[in-house]
Amino acid sequence: MAEKALEDLFYDMLKDVYYAERKILKTLPKMAKGAQSPKLKAAFEKHHEETEGQLERLRQVFEIFGKRAVGKTCPAIDGIIEEGEEILEEFKGSAALDAGLLATAQAVEHYEIARYGTLKTWAALLGLQEAVVLLDETLQQEGKTDQDLSKLAEASVNASAIKKAA
Ligand SMILES: [Fe+2]
Ligand SMILES: [Fe+2]
Repeated sequence: MAEKALEDLFYDMLKDVYYAERKILKTLPKMAKGAQSPKLKAAFEKHHEETEGQLERLRQVFEIFGKRAVGKTCPAIDGIIEEGEEILEEFKGSAALDAGLLATAQAVEHYEIARYGTLKTWAALLGLQEAVVLLDETLQQEGKTDQDLSKLAEASVNASAIKKAA
C-alpha cells in the first residue's frame, strides 16, 4: 500500500464535506417544512441558500487542489440527519418539535465547523492560500448560523417546547 500523506487526508475530507453539504442541501427544505416557528423556518431557508454557495466554494477548492469534485459517503452526517428525521416523525405536531429540529441543526453546524476548521488549517499547510480564503468564508458562515440558532433557541424555541401546566 502506498504511503499516504496530508494531501490524501485533505482530499478525503474534502470529499466527505462535499457529500455532507449535498445531503444537508437536500435535508434543509424538509426541516424548513417541518418547523412550526416562522423564524426557525426562515433560518433553515436562509441556510439552504447559503449551502448552495458553500457547495460552489467547495467545487472551487477541488479545482485549486487540482482534483475532481466527488463526494464520499460520510456516515457521521448521515447519522445526525437520521436523528433529525426521527425527531420529525416522532415529535410531529408536538410543541417540542422545533426545539428538537433546532438541536439537530446545531449538531450539523458543529460537525461542519469541525470539518472546515481542519480543512482550512490543512489547506494552509499545503500552501493552498486561495483555498484557505474560501474555506474560511464558509467556516465563518457556519459559525454565524450556529450562533443565530442559539439565539433563536434562547429567545423563543426552547420556551415553546416546555410543557404547559394543566
Ligand atoms: Fe454547510
Ligand atoms: Fe451549515
